[in-house]
Amino acid sequence: MTGLPSLSPAFAVLLALGAAGCTDPAIVQDPFEATGELIAFSGGEAGATGACSTCHGTQGMGDSNLAPRIAGLDQGYALRQLEHFASGARQHPQMYTIAKALDGEAREKVTAYYAAVDWAVADAPPQLREAADLCSGAAIYHEGIPAQGVASCASCHGADALGNAGNPPLAGQSTPYLAHQLDAWASSERYGDAGAAMTSISRALHPDDRQAVAAYAASLAGGRGDRALPETCLRTRRPGR
Ligand code: HEC
Ligand code: HEC
Repeated sequence: MTGLPSLSPAFAVLLALGAAGCTDPAIVQDPFEATGELIAFSGGEAGATGACSTCHGTQGMGDSNLAPRIAGLDQGYALRQLEHFASGARQHPQMYTIAKALDGEAREKVTAYYAAVDWAVADAPPQLREAADLCSGAAIYHEGIPAQGVASCASCHGADALGNAGNPPLAGQSTPYLAHQLDAWASSERYGDAGAAMTSISRALHPDDRQAVAAYAASLAGGRGDRALPETCLRTRRPGR
């Protein structure tokens, strides 16, 4: 810890959190025994540029753009993503360097830390959720496009987009991030998911549809109400019924 030229805001937060969170005397006495929290705010073996909080935010909520929410992610899912980044099955230059630098134990600790972090996003206003331009995304999300072999997203990610176990949450992620992942699968920049379901789904979706379903999924705050195709969308999509 010596040799740091000055205290960055993130490091100050680290100190504050560390002081509040370290109840185990062994951890307090041994500065080299990195906890998941310490790695999150210091980068651990990945060094200061690997501090997760820099890009994923101090609460792990992401940057509303291409850095996703990692707070509350299922640990098994998050661990597998770190493996994928390290192996290149999922391509991202910075996450590659960071994942490579962390050993298995550090990955376990930091993903356990984030799995336990509470998260919450505000509900999108109902008028936004039911806006006509979200309806095509909503229809794909809840019903899929059977003619193109696209299963409904809800069947795996949940009608509330909260996900479960290996099916990650889409709620609480940004539109640009979700759309970027679908594009990455379509172009094989991301692969290695079980059964290649996301690869075939993403390839079957027109780029406009990827954008639309990403926007709809991002509008779901999770768990509150969005259990089916919104009423307005039903009317828009099936006039006469
Ligand atoms: C320099 C910025 C940066 C830093 C530092 C960083 N990340 Fe990331 N992380 C990203 C970006 C950007 C993505 C999205 C990559 C993509 O599009 O595939 C990502 C993706 C992830 C994902 C995948 C999430 C999902 O929903 O699939 C996990 C897990 C993750 N990071 C964990 C971490 C951990 C743990 C740390 C600290 C040890 C960390 N990241 C540090 C930028 C960063
Ligand atoms: C058969 C189950 C299944 C279906 C259907 C499905 N998904 Fe997925 N999805 C998954 C799994 C499993 C993963 C995680 C893959 C991995 O481990 O890399 C995933 C990951 C994702 C991710 C990346 C999340 C992140 O945090 O990086 C996005 C975005 C996504 N799915 C969107 C969709 C959309 C949109 C649809 C509907 C058009 C859909 N999925 C349908 C199973 C499914």
